[in-house]
Amino acid sequence: MDDLLALARTMMVRAHAPYSNFHVGAAVRDEDGRLHGGCNVENSAYPQGWCAEASAIAALVGAGKRRVMECLVVGPGPELITPCGGCRQKLREFATDSLKIHLCGPKGVERTVTLGELFPMSFGPSHIGKP
Ligand code: THU
Repeated sequence: MDDLLALARTMMVRAHAPYSNFHVGAAVRDEDGRLHGGCNVENSAYPQGWCAEASAIAALVGAGKRRVMECLVVGPGPELITPCGGCRQKLREFATDSLKIHLCGPKGVERTVTLGELFPMSFGPSHIGKP
């Protein structure tokens, strides 16, 4: 998990968050064990911004991968950051309920939860007949 945290911290520094000043970094592990990272990217037309988790998922898909095996998110604190509703759905596309999501503040990992805990009874690819 240290490798995920190191990458997510690097991503957090690179966030484009001039409007919220809330820098977030995320990292995901793919089915081959490789890591992909992302940060939040805000926009002067506020609704057009997107989250760190979305960036990390896009990097994984762009690398030709399709499974999120582990996920870590780091925020500035003091309150523990959790993926927003939209990002829970985005993760669901590439992961199962058992996906571990490590939630981190400035000092590191504070809590690990599963996607199923964060996002129970979710709608996923199987509902429309996809594996
Ligand atoms: N944000 C993330 O990037 N990930 C989360 O899990 C929660 C929120 C971003 C969106 C926005 O750029 C900023 O944090 C404040 O909401």
